[in-house]
Amino acid sequence: MSRISAYRNSYARLALGAMLIATPALATLDLRDYDDDLMRDLEKTIKYFEPDITAQNSQAAKEDAEVLLDGFRYTEDYFAKRGKDDAVAISRDGSRLIADVVAKVDKGEFDAAAASAREATQVCKTCHEIYKPRLAR
Ligand code: HEC
Repeated sequence: MSRISAYRNSYARLALGAMLIATPALATLDLRDYDDDLMRDLEKTIKYFEPDITAQNSQAAKEDAEVLLDGFRYTEDYFAKRGKDDAVAISRDGSRLIADVVAKVDKGEFDAAAASAREATQVCKTCHEIYKPRLAR
């Protein structure tokens, strides 16, 4: 599947500039020091994120948001050190969306917050599409 078509299907607006300069990165990125435990925490957290918002559980949603923000800050920093500007921009989009969710939860706008949370899930996928090695290749 082409990266471009996956990109068009999802998450079209936020990372346009970043995606256009995406380079074939898998060959050059050494992920041995990457924090997989953190990624698994993110995976667990993001599963609860939207349900917590929909249930109007502001406290839980904000705790989720903190974990997710930490995660996006980690990826921003990790990829910045390796000069991968596209992944840095993707990470910032993630942080921005999470901040947006928190702001909306604070205003009691739970539907809008849930929509932003879904977009945040797309951010994870966008980065994986480029940088996460696939087993079958
Ligand atoms: C900017 C890039 C980037 C972002 C953003 C990102 N990831 Fe990842 N993720 C990766 C990379 C790269 C790997 C592969 C790491 C490896 O192979 O060691 C990975 C691996 C994973 C894994 C597999 C870990 C394992 O067991 O080996 C999970 C689960 C995961 N990510 C979840 C998430 C979730 C959920 C989000 C969003 C909240 C997210 N990631 C955001 C880059 C990213």
